Amino acid sequence: MNTPSKPLPLFFALIIILLIPLISLVNNDFSVFTAIKIICRQTYKPPHGLVTTSNERDKSWRKPFIGFKNIDDLSSISRAISPNISQCFPVELPSNALTPTHCCPSKPSFSKFIDFKDFASPNATMRVRKPFHLLHEEDIAKFEKGIALMKALPHDDPRSFIQQAKVHCAYCNGAYHLSYPFQDTKLDIHRSWFFFPFHRWYIYFFERILGKLIGDPNFALPFWNWDSIEGMQMPSCFTNPNSSLYHKLRNQKHMPPHVLDLNYNANDNDYVPSHQQVSNNLATMYKQMVLASTTELFMGSPFRLGDNPRPGPGSVEAAPHNTVHTWVGGADTPHHEDMGTFYTAARDPIFYGHHSNLDRMWAIWKTLGEGRRDYSDQDWLDSEFFFYDENADFVRVKVRDCIDTKNLGYVYQDVDLAWLRTPPTSRKSKLLRQTKKAQVWSSKPRRFPLVLDSITSVIVKRPKKMRSKEEKEQEEEVLVIEGIEFGSDKFVKFDIHVDDDEDKLSNPDQTELVGSFVNLYHGHGHKISTSFKVGLSKVLENLEAQEDDDLMVTLVPKVGKGDVIIGSIKIEFIPK
Ligand code: C2O
Repeated sequence: MNTPSKPLPLFFALIIILLIPLISLVNNDFSVFTAIKIICRQTYKPPHGLVTTSNERDKSWRKPFIGFKNIDDLSSISRAISPNISQCFPVELPSNALTPTHCCPSKPSFSKFIDFKDFASPNATMRVRKPFHLLHEEDIAKFEKGIALMKALPHDDPRSFIQQAKVHCAYCNGAYHLSYPFQDTKLDIHRSWFFFPFHRWYIYFFERILGKLIGDPNFALPFWNWDSIEGMQMPSCFTNPNSSLYHKLRNQKHMPPHVLDLNYNANDNDYVPSHQQVSNNLATMYKQMVLASTTELFMGSPFRLGDNPRPGPGSVEAAPHNTVHTWVGGADTPHHEDMGTFYTAARDPIFYGHHSNLDRMWAIWKTLGEGRRDYSDQDWLDSEFFFYDENADFVRVKVRDCIDTKNLGYVYQDVDLAWLRTPPTSRKSKLLRQTKKAQVWSSKPRRFPLVLDSITSVIVKRPKKMRSKEEKEQEEEVLVIEGIEFGSDKFVKFDIHVDDDEDKLSNPDQTELVGSFVNLYHGHGHKISTSFKVGLSKVLENLEAQEDDDLMVTLVPKVGKGDVIIGSIKIEFIPK
């Protein structure tokens, strides 16, 4: 028999093609994109090693793309971030910015770039980055000379000091946008999982340029060891007015031997004796490094193509990163220029020593164990940035190539980590905490979203209690503060306390102060909406609060009272 077998599938295909627009007419939610999504869902098989495992990733996929409707499951498409370098826009500055600033490169290379591969050279020996306070005179002299030569380059040389400072401004204040179809989204490498890799690459090229200028391929960028007792003041080499490292726009009250405040509240009125300040700093370091037991808590939240920028900073980015920026910056300039705001921060040579130590924190954090590791997410690994190298070539680099400093030819000198032996302590009795909680229970509850205009305590339910050791090893109990909203030109800092006493709040060297949210001045004209997460498992152990049904969370506005809205506070369990 001769049955016509071919026309049958064709006939069905025709019916489907005709049905798609028909259904979209009657059902608003069924768009052509939904159709594409369905087709993709059926044809897409994740390659080996790409199978999503974490809840966090699963959830982030459910977020809709901006501007697209229902196209939330195209898992086969990379959502890695790459700035669209074919266009560079005027940057967003804070209102009454000190100087009119253009942050685009003076010699735009547009799409002409080289894929940078020469990671560990120019010299095969490992460069060792050392702390300023342990440097020999001749090492300081080298650094000074390099900066002086950089400052002396013609201003349109992409390796000149001023052009290097502009690179930072461009990546922070929206000079670059993302690629199609998200060309309206401005790139900001802060407050997300790009904070560490972007700055690692940035200071890496800065180091290579310095090395080339002074003719020393082994030159290693020193670090400001502010996490050590000896390093808790401005390194003296920056304070000599005749040095290329000197910078005028700094807080004059903070010259050595003034002790640095890693939890700086942007005012110098609450004086703390030096020994107390040192102990506060050590405990702050401990919390920022040790309580951040998951990748997201330390590195910051995922930011993929199609997401809103600035999903949330990691612990160390909020403080000491932001707080040290403010502490160095001028006391009388409108936004603590230069260090205290991103459009000018990299004009101060101390910026590079500060970021060298932050980069070191990333390297150290991974050695603290308990499963601490980098993101293995392809969208993160494949994301890319562009820089000028020591030969003034415009180069492209990927996040994946910077995650091991040895691959880039450098390591950090081992120095004692006193903070690792200095956990915070708790001085409040369990009874007192229960009484304080009862007071909050009986008072008028604050409703979300709430304006953070005063010290605010809320009770937060714990979905699980008395978790086993295994459970704790697998998942961190995390305090999630969501929908943190404020104007982009606001400077915001609030501290987060758990089971504390509103009338007698704990110091930074005590357990109850669990973290700080800090946002530096940015541009003006839009709203920032972000989130913040703090690991609680260790805190609850220390407070002996593991069997409690709920927690009392107290938010203490320190800067920008009344400028911040808090969307919600909850507890989540994040896989390690
Ligand atoms: Cu991109 Cu410390 O800032």
